[in-house]
Amino acid sequence: MQPCHSAGMSPASHENGYWISLAQPDDIPSLQEAASVSWRATYQAIFDPEFIERFLAQAYSAASLERAFQDARTHFLVARINADPEAGVLAFCQVGPPSHPDGAPPACGELYRLYVRPAYQRRGIGRQLLGVAEDWLAGQGYLRYGCYVHARNDRGKAFYWQMGFNRRPLRDLEDEWYLVKELVTHT
Ligand SMILES: CC(C)(COP(=O)(O)OP(=O)(O)OC[C@H]1O[C@@H](n2cnc3c(N)ncnc32)[C@H](O)[C@@H]1OP(=O)(O)O)[C@@H](O)C(=O)NCCC(=O)NCCS
Repeated sequence: MQPCHSAGMSPASHENGYWISLAQPDDIPSLQEAASVSWRATYQAIFDPEFIERFLAQAYSAASLERAFQDARTHFLVARINADPEAGVLAFCQVGPPSHPDGAPPACGELYRLYVRPAYQRRGIGRQLLGVAEDWLAGQGYLRYGCYVHARNDRGKAFYWQMGFNRRPLRDLEDEWYLVKELVTHT
């Protein structure tokens, strides 16, 4: 498999007025800003501000993102309003193999992150990103995939229930609920 950054700007999906493509190094500043606004809005009532800032600085540093883009076992997608690489990142997601493989369900991938800028939420972008990520997971041979959502993230939970995920409480990590979705395979 080719690393993500080799695919240029050819869109993986263009529906609904939003373009989805593989993340590129040039996306980093805009992606970092999208992560900051989404993280602060989502978790301000859940985590303390120092934790949020520490997490953003670590998980969204340029070096961490470059590593994530180049990890050929995963797929890192960004959504923007049009095909122009100068257009800012509105949303992003990353999927790949399970982060806690011990005892994971068989043939199970994972959604590591999915964030839509608050101003662009509820316009179908999350659903569209997930659809492209699911096509990639199915193409890799995964039959299902999991994700973690904070027990108090009501918006995230509402979205995941609507997208067809079910909770598997035995694999919860403290306040992080573990959810799984079966992928429809076309034979
Ligand atoms: C959760 C999130 C990714 C959803 O993305 P989105 O683009 O806003 O969602 P969509 O517009 O594709 O919504 C698809 C369906 O999910 C459900 N849904 C989405 N947001 C919802 C909300 N706030 N309340 C209730 N249902 C919601 C709806 O059924 C919606 O369909 P509808 O608008 O036709 O009724 C986005 O709100 C987000 O980034 N939240 C902050 C970060 C986060 O919680 N990430 C997930 C956990 S890591």
